[in-house]
Amino acid sequence: MISVHTRHLLVVLTALVLLSCVYWLVLIPGYMDMSLRLLQQLRPSSVERAKQIDFPEASSLDPQMKTAGNGAVDAFSGCDERAMGLFSDIFVVSLPGRMDRRADMERERQALAVNWTWVDATPSNDHIVQTILNEVRHLRDSLSRSNDSLPSFQWPVDMDVFPLPPFAGSDLWTAPTAASSGSPLGVPPTAIAPVPLRPLTCAMQNSTVGPPYEPSLPPYMHLTPAKVACWYSHLQVIRKIAMDLNADTRCNQAALVLEDDVDMEKDIQERLHGIWTALPQGWDVIFLGHCWSNETYYPAVATIKTESSMLQTSLHPSFSPKCTHAYALSRTGALKLLNHLRFPPFAYSRALDQAIAWLVSTGRLNSYSVVPSIVVQRKIGRSDVDGGREGFGSDWRDTLADGVLGT
Ligand SMILES: *[C@@H]1O[C@H](CO)[C@@H](O)[C@H](O)[C@H]1NC(C)=O
Ligand SMILES: *[C@@H]1O[C@H](CO)[C@@H](O)[C@H](O)[C@H]1NC(C)=O
Ligand SMILES: *[C@@H]1O[C@H](CO)[C@@H](O)[C@H](O)[C@H]1NC(C)=O
Ligand SMILES: *[C@@H]1O[C@H](CO)[C@@H](O)[C@H](O)[C@H]1NC(C)=O
Repeated sequence: MISVHTRHLLVVLTALVLLSCVYWLVLIPGYMDMSLRLLQQLRPSSVERAKQIDFPEASSLDPQMKTAGNGAVDAFSGCDERAMGLFSDIFVVSLPGRMDRRADMERERQALAVNWTWVDATPSNDHIVQTILNEVRHLRDSLSRSNDSLPSFQWPVDMDVFPLPPFAGSDLWTAPTAASSGSPLGVPPTAIAPVPLRPLTCAMQNSTVGPPYEPSLPPYMHLTPAKVACWYSHLQVIRKIAMDLNADTRCNQAALVLEDDVDMEKDIQERLHGIWTALPQGWDVIFLGHCWSNETYYPAVATIKTESSMLQTSLHPSFSPKCTHAYALSRTGALKLLNHLRFPPFAYSRALDQAIAWLVSTGRLNSYSVVPSIVVQRKIGRSDVDGGREGFGSDWRDTLADGVLGT
């Protein structure tokens, strides 16, 4: 005998089952279909872990000529509109697992109507990161056996001279099969002896070693696997750019590197074109976004206004730009940066952005910064940032005038 209550319960249950059938039959397939299409559009590059150095072919952009109105703007001839009409290529460095970020970036890509190449970043738990940390330990141990308490290094000459060996210096730590012959930075790969694990600290300036480890050191002084993974990931892109631009005469011989957590001004292309017409000769790096530094320290070399927003965008000689979420490299810039970053006493000795900022502030790189930033990180709040630097306290906030994603 079924009670009235039980019958009511059955009716409710049946209704629930029917509803969930509708959900599974109608809504989920639609959603999955959408996700699949999105995934297909993303076409994440598949860099084989074993062959980190072999990048997938960059998106083959047709070198179609951009008709430059009155024909006066020759700087843009041979440039593809899908690379903002300025670059040979655009790369987005992205951890393969972060599909959420890739989906947001894909929205931006479509809104801006550009093409770019995804580059799988190396996660900090990758074995290659431990290999590098061991090499850094090994190098520091051998240096500390000398009497110099803080061994410092000098740059070799000819850091900006072609031809460019694909693998040299610290590359050989992680690419043991690559021929080491003819390397101007030549340091043979070290046979890796098991080294007792001990935390490493970040070096400063021309020092190869950091201060002695103490637990009380602030996080930004810890040479963590995350910092090494970030350096390694960017280095792979920078090497690819240096090799590509060396062989490529399209466009401006410049490439753009983005991280996957950025937002960009809707009129970024208009602003960049304005800046490009005023770009000083012989530039190496241009920071489209930067953090933790007063990039108006030096007077502007160019100021432009876009028609759409009438907002000013200026180009300043860089002061000490941190963050690596948006930077353009010229052909020589890529070469110089690559050779500095893989110079063994300097390689992986600190956070990548601290390294680049120091190269900039010591005149090793001819760098300019766009002010205000036209590309910003959406998730500021890195725990390993040097708060307090340049008097900005522990907070750095950056916003856009009119970001694609509304940042
Ligand atoms: C941009 O990428 C899409 C998809 O790969 C391709 O169909 C299109 O031709 C590319 N556009 C240019 C100008 O390269
Ligand atoms: C290093 O220091 C030790 C002891 O202070 C000294 O005997 C030795 O000569 C020094 N070596 C060098 C290369 O300066
Ligand atoms: C490193 O920098 C310090 C301070 O600027 C300087 O005294 C020292 O000579 C430099 N070391 C080398 C090897 O150039
Ligand atoms: C940045 O530097 C310029 C030039 O020295 C100075 O006028 C300005 O006040 C500085 N801005 C900040 C926020 O410190």
